[in-house]
Amino acid sequence: MLKIVDLHAEAGDREILKGVNLTVEEGQTCVLFGPNGSGKSTLMATIMGYSTIKVTSGKILFKGKDITDLPVDERAKMGIGMMMQRPPNIYGVKLGDLIKASAPENGDTVIEGADKFKMENFLDREVNVGFSGGEIKRSELLQLTAQKPEFILLDEPESGVDLENIDLIGNKVHDLLYDTCPGSRRHVSSLVITHTGQIMDYIGADRGYVMKNGRIQCSGNPLELLREIKKNGYGECDACKIIKL
Ligand SMILES: Nc1ncnc2c1ncn2[C@@H]1O[C@H](COP(=O)(O)OP(=O)(O)OP(=O)(O)O)[C@@H](O)[C@H]1O
Ligand SMILES: [Mg+2]
Repeated sequence: MLKIVDLHAEAGDREILKGVNLTVEEGQTCVLFGPNGSGKSTLMATIMGYSTIKVTSGKILFKGKDITDLPVDERAKMGIGMMMQRPPNIYGVKLGDLIKASAPENGDTVIEGADKFKMENFLDREVNVGFSGGEIKRSELLQLTAQKPEFILLDEPESGVDLENIDLIGNKVHDLLYDTCPGSRRHVSSLVITHTGQIMDYIGADRGYVMKNGRIQCSGNPLELLREIKKNGYGECDACKIIKL
């Protein structure tokens, strides 16, 4: 579904991604761990095609097509969606209008069900303006639900979410990734950044990657990686020694 090959990228004239290799197979949920400032959000922004990031070498392949130079809207049309860690305020645009504009087929239905995201009172507000941390996460998920992407980038979906709302977020992320019919099977692929691994209680994960200093340091079973990181931190990760790329 997604294949990243030796990707180097700069932001603000600094090389942030220093040769990233990463694969997400169709239907897989992959989790990305890594210390603060290691380049995880930059990697997601590069996959989504933000113009603030300059790819200097390497490739991003999506469904077999080279999308490295495609603009962000083309990538969205191809089926890539993203929940940002810190989305911008969009002054003058109401959340409900954004949802209708970005998802003409599905927007109205999602707006009718906004109460399930506790977002029914936010539809007439400017996007993200004055939203709390948890409200921003719910708003991002509502937008993604309308957009129905085939491949979803989730940047710390559970961070800053209170204990009551974590269930809501976890279950809505689950709904995004799975058919909700009985006997469901996973149909949407995703790459999920998490520090705590809490989101894995709701969605499970097939593979974990650890990013350090702009590179993928190791990959393997996500629960084993998380256990090692909790035990040893990122400095002396036994998992890195065992499953070195
Ligand atoms: N436009 C920019 N100009 C200069 N430096 C940048 C720019 N964008 C990102 N960086 C730097 O790149 C590094 C990686 O940032 P990034 O947001 O990708 O980290 P992260 O792994 O997501 O961290 P966290 O876990 O804290 O969210 C940081 O040191 C950040 O300051
Ligand atoms: Mg980040």
